Amino acid sequence: MLGHALRSEFHLDPDFITINHGSYGATPKRVLAAQDRWRRQMEAQPSRFMRAELPQALRHAADALADFLGADGQDLAFVSNATEGCNAVLRSLVFKPGDEIVVLGHVYGAVRNTVQYLCDRFGTRLVEAPMPFPRLDEAKLVASLTAAFTPSTKLAVIDHITSSSAMVLPLPAIIAACHAAAVPILVDGAHGPGHVDIDLNALGADYYVGNCHKWLMAAKGCAFIWARRDRQAGLHPTVISHGYGKGFLPEFDWTGTFDPSAYLSVTAALDFHAELGGAALRARNANLAAEAAALLAGRLGTETASGNAAAGAMALVRLPASGDRAMALRDALLVAGTDAPVQSLAGDAWLRLSAHAYNEIADYQALADRVQAVLRD
Ligand SMILES: Cc1ncc(COP(=O)(O)O)c(C=O)c1O
Repeated sequence: MLGHALRSEFHLDPDFITINHGSYGATPKRVLAAQDRWRRQMEAQPSRFMRAELPQALRHAADALADFLGADGQDLAFVSNATEGCNAVLRSLVFKPGDEIVVLGHVYGAVRNTVQYLCDRFGTRLVEAPMPFPRLDEAKLVASLTAAFTPSTKLAVIDHITSSSAMVLPLPAIIAACHAAAVPILVDGAHGPGHVDIDLNALGADYYVGNCHKWLMAAKGCAFIWARRDRQAGLHPTVISHGYGKGFLPEFDWTGTFDPSAYLSVTAALDFHAELGGAALRARNANLAAEAAALLAGRLGTETASGNAAAGAMALVRLPASGDRAMALRDALLVAGTDAPVQSLAGDAWLRLSAHAYNEIADYQALADRVQAVLRD
């Protein structure tokens, strides 16, 4: 049961065309119910829960998530979002003036700001490697990255799936290029889990941060940080608490009193994802996104961004409009009853659409009607 038949599992507004899962996800009712059960258990005896039940429950949830991601639970800790996870890595590392941090042109704005913060604080330099667009070419991408490396490069921060351009980046080739240059890599996998297949142990990045509240459909505020075992010493959460100096898990598992229900209910999200097909669902979503993008590009007489072998469940369609109209077009689409990020890239306006389990092709036919009407006005 996928497509509109699944909408009753969500609280989605039936009068709104939801084709922007990528931005904030959508949490199924059953995951929210599991979260609520954890909250009740916590509030029945807060002290017992926090001291005696939470430590084990948290590790149980981390083990289940790690299993899904091809990782070991002891290398993975929860954080509340990808921004926090990236901050934890970036603000744990020690930089000196002249050190360089390499990012790609389409790096996410909040993460770029975090790198900029380090530059302002320590005199580090942000180096931006150009991103091939709108055709993603693995060789060109790797060449762009390696051309940006110098003896001063101390870290590369690379998206798994870019936010503005919806590109699934070829991580194995990128990680190999970083390691060949002795550059550690932080992968910002905000869009990765539940979207594409992930095997963290096999990938072998230095750090991987991922959101569960997007494509895995966990409750909001559920994300994780994974660190290769040899990178865990010296890695600290953004909040220093009782666990300081006691190691990776004690430091990250307790950062002060908090509501852990989003983390603990990740098992319900994992179950739901598996029930909907797991890998087959991810492939179905990618096919739907490609079909939807082709439909829109056909109706608008434009093109889709492409070229990546591993397509994902988000796709980018060029609008017949210049990039400086991007914000106005998004606002107009919102008034017309739908929401899709419209970005200015390479001078043009590009619309990003998402496809998840509750979507079907009729959503994008309706979207195309709205886009055409908005462009006419
Ligand atoms: C590449 C990338 N990094 C980080 C984030 C931030 O995610 P969050 O708001 O969950 O921290 C996003 C959000 O879309 C993203 O696309």
